[in-house]
Amino acid sequence: MTQDSLTSNHPGHTPHGASAPLTPMSLGQLLTRIGHEWETRNKIFDLPTARIWSPDADVDLSFEFLGRPCASPIGPAAGPHSQLAQNIVLSWLGGSRLFELKTVQILDELEIARPCIDMQTIGYNIEWSQELKIPESLTEYVKASMLIDILRNWEPLREHIGIDPGPHVFDMSVGYDLAGISSPEVASFIDGMKDATAEVDALRAEIPEAFAEFRDFEFTTVLSDTLTLSTFHGCPPDEIESITKHLIDAHGLDVIVKLNPTLLGYETVASIVNDELGYSDVRVKEEEFANDLQFDRGTELIGELRDYAVERDRLFGIKLTNTLVVHNEKQWMPEDTMYLSGPPLHVLASTLLDKLAEALPGELDIPGHGGNIMVSFSAGITKENLADALAMGINPATVCSDLLKPGGYGRLAPMLKALTKEVKESGANDLTSWRAARQEAAIAAGHANVAAAYVAHLRGAGAADYHLSSNEKLPREVENELEMFGCVSCNFCITVCPNDAFFSIPSLADTGLDSMENSRQQYLVLSELCNECGNCMTFCPEDGDPAMVKPRLYTDAEVFNSRDTPGVLIAGDGALSSKGIDGESFDLIERLLASQKGNPLG
Ligand SMILES: Cc1cc2nc3c(=O)[nH]c(=O)nc-3n(C[C@H](O)[C@H](O)[C@H](O)COP(=O)(O)O)c2cc1C
Repeated sequence: MTQDSLTSNHPGHTPHGASAPLTPMSLGQLLTRIGHEWETRNKIFDLPTARIWSPDADVDLSFEFLGRPCASPIGPAAGPHSQLAQNIVLSWLGGSRLFELKTVQILDELEIARPCIDMQTIGYNIEWSQELKIPESLTEYVKASMLIDILRNWEPLREHIGIDPGPHVFDMSVGYDLAGISSPEVASFIDGMKDATAEVDALRAEIPEAFAEFRDFEFTTVLSDTLTLSTFHGCPPDEIESITKHLIDAHGLDVIVKLNPTLLGYETVASIVNDELGYSDVRVKEEEFANDLQFDRGTELIGELRDYAVERDRLFGIKLTNTLVVHNEKQWMPEDTMYLSGPPLHVLASTLLDKLAEALPGELDIPGHGGNIMVSFSAGITKENLADALAMGINPATVCSDLLKPGGYGRLAPMLKALTKEVKESGANDLTSWRAARQEAAIAAGHANVAAAYVAHLRGAGAADYHLSSNEKLPREVENELEMFGCVSCNFCITVCPNDAFFSIPSLADTGLDSMENSRQQYLVLSELCNECGNCMTFCPEDGDPAMVKPRLYTDAEVFNSRDTPGVLIAGDGALSSKGIDGESFDLIERLLASQKGNPLG
């Protein structure tokens, strides 16, 4: 199927052009939702207990993130999974212990065109940074931290998360220039993350009766004191240098600089993507390479910034990589430029690590180097390549594109299980000794280190998995126009939504929808959490945009009144009102909600 047919597959959708703003749920609402879902469905934010990670007591998957202990080496990369409180909680339940939080920047009223995520095959997006105002982002991160503190001590969850879920780290992300990052707004965000006592205390009052035992809990107040600088495209080297120094000097942070794949140079990138991996339809934006950091200056800068940090008793690291800037040939998303992620980026970022390891001997904190520059990673990590990528010495492996595929956050725990199995079967019981054995094997096979061995594999026999031919399969389709009630009940809209904006209600007899063919579940949208990113539309097998077609519920009257799309408002007392919805449909929505014990939204 071509992109044209993808568009025609979804005739109901016209790109909205501008973003639907997000209205986060309050801490009280989120806790009420947790309590209600647990009682009625044994799930938390739609994640079933089978997808909650419980560490294996015999295998230690922990690592140190810039000196801070983290119980697992995976987590969400800055993006849609690390923006709202429930997203971060879902990641934590799946086993994430390192969270690269969504990038915060001074331009917090950006209009992001929609749809903005296209994970149909590899991964593309046109997103920028946070879609919330800066103070709202701080509140989301504080709520997420409090929810994790509560859940790790919540009796009903104990048997699912294991005796000790272990420590986790929130890593801030800011962008994109010194002026913005040194503004009072961003400075106050960083200060708030370093000491969130006031925010935490203000939120205590929202903790509902069912969780009253936590109202006086000693919550984490130092939410984060590390930061990954998102340099994005076109951030000049001098700016990267001054921002990093500013973050160290003004805020006393340990800093990671997230680098771009452009560091490899246009010829190498184009030859890997187009020739070696066969993505002939991807047109890398050559003109962007000249503005980005060049390799030689990059290696100098990495050494200089590490020295600068060490002299001030701070730690420094690099992250490989941000997305690759390409021409928007598909024209499904409404911008000229889009950002590529997923499988091809995995080959690029691994190649970059190998090249940096060669150019900076003994400097990186990877096997065989023994240096002190930590290397974090985000590029096409999946269950299949997680162990091989981690064996290179990267800490941690963060994920974005893979979590946007069906299964969503439920894909995390299987990644950790596969990694545990690999470490266990090698005879090791922790990541360090397992990596040491992998390093020995790489040297025995004639490579300088594991990174070199892995890249030789990726660009040789292993290239097939990253080649276009392994990554061009389109999501499944059925010939049926999506309607408000009834569908194939595949659940994809729930799992591919990073915000958990969808939920389902069984089509039982008292809903009046039990006779619908193939419709075991009815799906509803929590409108305030939906930013119309387009990901559910990509994966829905039927024709239509689930975010627009399924019943759109609101809990905030102001937001409800401000929208001109059809929807149903659920008032605090559970009373329903609607606009743009016919009487019969309203009646069915009412019956569906009534079939739930209590108000699912608090
Ligand atoms: C929809 C989307 C939004 C993203 N937003 C950010 C962001 O705000 N800040 C950032 O540094 N990187 C952002 N990224 C890049 C990811 O953090 C990650 O580096 C990249 O996608 C590569 O990882 P992946 O192949 O697992 O997706 C975003 C990526 C996607 C797909």
